[in-house]
Amino acid sequence: MKIIPITLLSAVAVLAGCTGFSTPPTTAEAIMKPTQGNTTSGVVSFSQDGDKIVVDARIQGLSPGLHGFHIHEKGDCSAPDAMSAGGHFNPAGTKHGAPSNAEHHGGDFGNLTADAAGTATLSIAIPASQITLSKSGANSIIGKGLIVHADPDDYATQPTGNSGKRLACGVINLN
Ligand code: CU
Ligand code: ZN
Repeated sequence: MKIIPITLLSAVAVLAGCTGFSTPPTTAEAIMKPTQGNTTSGVVSFSQDGDKIVVDARIQGLSPGLHGFHIHEKGDCSAPDAMSAGGHFNPAGTKHGAPSNAEHHGGDFGNLTADAAGTATLSIAIPASQITLSKSGANSIIGKGLIVHADPDDYATQPTGNSGKRLACGVINLN
């Protein structure tokens, strides 16, 4: 039975475009759960692709339209309103903004756009110079909180984008 694990490792390496056998792709996930009185939920996955961290979000139970979406500094969703997750994750001490702005927090993912059914998907790539999937380090997002908000991120109001209440909260964990 020794050949089976070797075959699996080879398949993983080929799929990930890896050059070695010892470095499986690093991925992480946050399961988003509704805050008190809300129904918003979903799954957000993170994977490293070269010098980018690719974020894929699938969220449901939203009102149609725009909803601010950010990493927050604490992986603590225990409060009924998720205020326990703290403010925006901001290890570089920058201003809040759109991901396309020159200055923004590494975890400013912009807005989710929910359709008429209340479902939103978002795929965004963030430079690995801003956020990492490392277990430690200032830019590591592992163990941090992830929040979906009730209102649009205006990309201007400091330091939050004025995105309103927290509809769903999750903790980013390595897979
Ligand atoms: Cu937020
Ligand atoms: Zn921010």
